[in-house]
Amino acid sequence: MNIQYRVGARKSVLRKLGLASLVETSTFDIETAHAALVRRQAVPERILTDGLVVDVPAGVYHPLPDSSSEFFIRNIKAMDQTRIHKTLEIGAGCGIISLYMAANWTSQTFATDISPIAVEATLANADLNGLSLTAFQSDLFEKIEERDFDLIVFNTPMIDKTPENDIEKYSLCDPHGMITESYLRQARHHVSKDGLIIFSICNNSAYEVMDPIDLDYSIVGFELGYSGFWRAIVGARI
Ligand SMILES: C[S@@+](CC[C@H](N)C(=O)[O-])C[C@H]1O[C@@H](n2cnc3c(N)ncnc32)[C@H](O)[C@@H]1O
Repeated sequence: MNIQYRVGARKSVLRKLGLASLVETSTFDIETAHAALVRRQAVPERILTDGLVVDVPAGVYHPLPDSSSEFFIRNIKAMDQTRIHKTLEIGAGCGIISLYMAANWTSQTFATDISPIAVEATLANADLNGLSLTAFQSDLFEKIEERDFDLIVFNTPMIDKTPENDIEKYSLCDPHGMITESYLRQARHHVSKDGLIIFSICNNSAYEVMDPIDLDYSIVGFELGYSGFWRAIVGARI
């Protein structure tokens, strides 16, 4: 992608989100933190959060206290669940976001992931916590026929970087925003009329891919982190 187009499209997205006077289009040096995150994901871990016990196998994204998973849960907690009857999570990983919804909401919960190990982990964690949800393997919406989800969630792999290992490939990296772009182009066919599609971006995401896609964007959650790092949960409506 031409650099000038990229910067212009990034500015345009920040304007649509109301962030243009708050953050710049530049990326952020996350190399050291990113390398530490990759190493941490190689070790299995049991995480206790929000009354849930969650086992995370090696290689599956770890919902650590400062992770994007917790960022989603903090924001999802504030939603009016009485308006949400059916939810779909794409890329559920160990299942933590779907488990939170299954534990606290009355809606039907569907959780999917491209990784069969992640799907097994979600199902095992649902059992461990005595929760009921439907989980299966799917590459984005490949195996999803329903078109009436009130909420579609994807804690997207965010970093615009060519993956160098499996954890980067599945959980952390979205080179050129290709996953985010496909997600947005497909999600519109599966959300209910007044439903909400949510996903994540940060300084280092290729969020410029959002610009040409005709969806009504808004900010659902926003955090300014250390030294200028920012991340956001974006809402999209048809
Ligand atoms: C950042 S992790 C989030 C995991 C979990 N939702 C959480 O918040 O802890 C992104 C997840 O997306 C999954 N993923 C990546 N590409 C995918 C695709 N094309 N279709 C479905 N899932 C995908 C990965 O396997 C990974 O589990």
